[in-house]
Amino acid sequence: MAQCSQVCSCAPWCYLPWCCLAFSFLLRGSVGGSLPSGAGSVGLGDMATHVCPFWRHTGNMSTPQYLVYPRQYVAYYLPPSEAPILDGNLNDVAWQQVPFTEPFVDIANHVKPRFETRAKIRWTDDALYVAAQLEEPDVWANVTKHDDVIFHDNDFEVFVDISGSNAYYKETEVNALGVTWDLSLNKPYGDGGGENSSRTLGAHGFDMANMVPPLMARARVRGPINDPAVRNGGWSVELRLPFVGLKLNNTVQNYTPRPGDFWRINFSRVEWHVMNRGGRYVKDPAYPHEDNWVWSRQGEVQMHLPERWGILQLAAGTVNATSVAMLPSWNERAVAMTIYYAQHAVLAKFGRFTNSVKLLAEYAPPRTLDGSCTGAVSVSLVDGAADFCARVPSLDGTREACVRGDRRLSVVSNNEGVCNCFSYDRNMQSNPHVK
Ligand SMILES: *[C@@H]1O[C@H](CO)[C@@H](O)[C@H](O)[C@H]1NC(C)=O
Ligand SMILES: *[C@@H]1O[C@H](CO)[C@@H](O)[C@H](O)[C@H]1NC(C)=O
Ligand SMILES: *[C@@H]1O[C@H](CO)[C@@H](O)[C@H](O)[C@H]1NC(C)=O
Ligand SMILES: *[C@@H]1O[C@H](CO)[C@@H](O)[C@H](O)[C@H]1NC(C)=O
Ligand SMILES: *[C@@H]1O[C@H](CO)[C@@H](O)[C@H](O)[C@H]1NC(C)=O
Ligand SMILES: *[C@@H]1O[C@H](CO)[C@@H](O)[C@H](O)[C@H]1NC(C)=O
Repeated sequence: MAQCSQVCSCAPWCYLPWCCLAFSFLLRGSVGGSLPSGAGSVGLGDMATHVCPFWRHTGNMSTPQYLVYPRQYVAYYLPPSEAPILDGNLNDVAWQQVPFTEPFVDIANHVKPRFETRAKIRWTDDALYVAAQLEEPDVWANVTKHDDVIFHDNDFEVFVDISGSNAYYKETEVNALGVTWDLSLNKPYGDGGGENSSRTLGAHGFDMANMVPPLMARARVRGPINDPAVRNGGWSVELRLPFVGLKLNNTVQNYTPRPGDFWRINFSRVEWHVMNRGGRYVKDPAYPHEDNWVWSRQGEVQMHLPERWGILQLAAGTVNATSVAMLPSWNERAVAMTIYYAQHAVLAKFGRFTNSVKLLAEYAPPRTLDGSCTGAVSVSLVDGAADFCARVPSLDGTREACVRGDRRLSVVSNNEGVCNCFSYDRNMQSNPHVK
C-alpha cells in the first residue's frame, strides 16, 4: 500500500490505507462501489436504488467500502429433523435445495483468487449451519488441537455479528482436518478488543464446543490429505454454530431468530502457497504472506471490520420464495460508521474527538453528513472528549443509529426510545438485534 500516499493528498477524507487502495484501483479503471450482484443468490435488484444515490459516485473518488451495500444471502429455516448430517459431504437435501453464495473475492484487491470458494447457509431453532466448498489441488493441514491457531493452516472462517453492533461477535475457523478454533471478540482488535477463547483463557474461555448443541465441524477431502504426490479435487466442510454461543453478550438475552431478521456475517479463506519438500508440504518462502479470499470484499486485509461484512437475511418456508430485502437501517448505519472513521481521523490529527459536524464533514466523503440520506446528525462528547456518542436518525424519523468511539453501534426504533450509546455498560452485555 506504499504507493497510496500521493493519491491520498488529493482526497482530504482519504486518510486510511484501504481508502487509498480503493482509489488506486479506480485510477486503474476499475469501478468502486459496486452493488451486490451475481451468482445464484443475492442481487438486490431494484433495492439498489434505495441506497443513497449521492454515495455512489463521490466525484472521481471511489466510494469507501463502508458505504457500499455488501453482499447478502437469504438463509432458509430447517426443521431440526432436516438438519444436514455433519460429515463434510454436501449431498444432504438441506444443501441441495439452496444456492451457493457468489464465489469469494480477494479481501482487498481485484485480483481473482487462484481457487474458487463458495458457501451455503441454513438455520434451525438452535444453530446456524454453514457449508463450504473449496477448490484446492494441494489439501494439507497441520493443526490437530481444538482452539490452536488454525489460520497457520489453510482454513475456512466464519464471522457472525447477530446484532450488527460490532461488539461480541464470534469467529470460527476450521481446517481440512475439521479442527476448529472459535473465539468471541468483545470489540475489534483495532478498537482495543481481545480474544476470549479456551486458547487464551483455558477452562474460563469462551468455547462453543462445550455448548448445546456443541460447535461441530467435519471436513471431507477429495483425495488424500498431506500428500504432495497426489493432486486433490478440493475439500468441503460443514459447520454447526450454536445460537447460544453466537448470541452470547451480542444481542438481547431473550432474542430468538425469526424469519425477516438480518444478521451480519462474513466468510474468509486463508490460503498459503506451499511446495513439496521431500514428500511433505511446506510453506513456500517466496510467499511469506497468506492470501485472504472473502465472500464480500472488506477493502483492506482486515476481517475485523464488522460494519463491512455481508448481510444474512433469515427466511422460512419454501426455499427460493423469499425476495432479497434491504437492511432497513443501512443508511443510518453507514453514516454512523462514517462519523466513527471521521472522528478517528480528527483524533489522530488533533488528539481529541469533536462535536462539530462541520469539522467531521471535512474528514468524511461528500454528502454523507449533510442529511442527504438520513436525518440531521448530532454528536455529543463524553468524558471530556475522550469518547463521543453520534446519533443518526433515519430520514423518515422512525429509527436512529448511534455509535461511540470503540465502534459499538446500535439501532433503535422510535418506540424503543432514543439511541443511547452508553445505555449498555462498557462490557456491552447485550444489544438490540439488527433492524
Ligand atoms: C478529480 O477531479 C478533480 C476536480 O475535478 C481533478 O482536478 C482531478 O484531476 C481529478 N483526478 C482524477 C484522478 O481524475
Ligand atoms: C433454489 O435456487 C437454486 C439456485 O438457483 C437452485 O439450485 C435450487 O435448486 C433452488 N431450490 C429449489 C428448492 O427450487
Ligand atoms: C470469556 O468468556 C467466558 C464464557 O462466556 C466468560 O465466562 C468469561 O468471563 C470471559 N472472559 C473475559 C475476560 O471476558
Ligand atoms: C459477557 O458479559 C459478562 C458480563 O459483563 C462478562 O462477565 C463475560 O465475560 C462476557 N462474556 C464474554 C464471552 O466475553
Ligand atoms: C506442517 O508441520 C510440519 C511439522 O511441524 C512442518 O515441517 C511443515 O512445514 C508444516 N507444513 C506447512 C505447509 O506449514
Ligand atoms: C465481509 O464483508 C465485507 C463487506 O461486505 C466484505 O467486503 C468482505 O469480503 C466480507 N468477507 C467475507 C469473508 O465474506
